[in-house]
Amino acid sequence: MDRRSFVKLVGFGSIALYLSGCGLTASENKNAPTAEKISAAQGVTSEGKSLKIVVINSSPHSEEQSTSRYLAQKFVDGAKSAGHEIFVFDAANEKTNPCRGCDRCGMDGDCIFNDAIAEKLMPQMLDADLLVLVTPLYYYGMSAQLKIVVDRFYSRTTRLNNKKSMMIATAWNSADWTMEALKTHYETLVRYMNWTDVGQVWAVGCGTRAMVERSEFGDAAYKIGATLK
Ligand SMILES: Cc1cc2nc3c(=O)[nH]c(=O)nc-3n(C[C@H](O)[C@H](O)[C@H](O)COP(=O)(O)O)c2cc1C
Repeated sequence: MDRRSFVKLVGFGSIALYLSGCGLTASENKNAPTAEKISAAQGVTSEGKSLKIVVINSSPHSEEQSTSRYLAQKFVDGAKSAGHEIFVFDAANEKTNPCRGCDRCGMDGDCIFNDAIAEKLMPQMLDADLLVLVTPLYYYGMSAQLKIVVDRFYSRTTRLNNKKSMMIATAWNSADWTMEALKTHYETLVRYMNWTDVGQVWAVGCGTRAMVERSEFGDAAYKIGATLK
């Protein structure tokens, strides 16, 4: 599917948005509860401590244009209001390299690349309590920019286990299956990494900044950040 198809579908999305809010279209299962698009885990607690949170943005769009960065910022505003410590990594604009599979790291060692992932992001991730993955939906998966970071987990896989995690994704389309593949991928990562999921924001029907700003997802992202305990 090319961008023109996404834009065509946005026509439907906009009508539905006008009628009933972001994320609902004629092709969507009307019985699907909103909770499927937004989830915040119950009972996740930091025992009153301030959490160290790493947010990984991956949209090539600017701060002013990007839909996913907008939601990430809402989450950050919420988390800061609750006193948590935030580090934001810009995977789209930092110098990053995809894993070469050379195994020099032995899955727990230095990577051959001395890039922004190794020097800036990895130390922060190793120290973090919560990792937040943020992406636009690209061909029903995460962006290549985010996937490069995820594959580079390899050099420290076990040391990145047992953290809390969260996912924020935005998409043009709003059919009920729009986020299915990415949601399955994220939940598989959570399982493999032995992470505890603290929230998921699947912002369907949010292909432009105007659409995401009108949607329910900004408040949802803020609330997840503000109620992390
Ligand atoms: C390369 C590319 C692939 C995309 N693939 C999809 C897709 O599979 N499904 C969809 O609904 N939207 C798709 N989109 C639209 C974006 O997910 C959507 O516009 C999103 O809001 C962009 O987020 P951003 O502004 O944070 O980058 C695609 C856009 C691009 C540029």
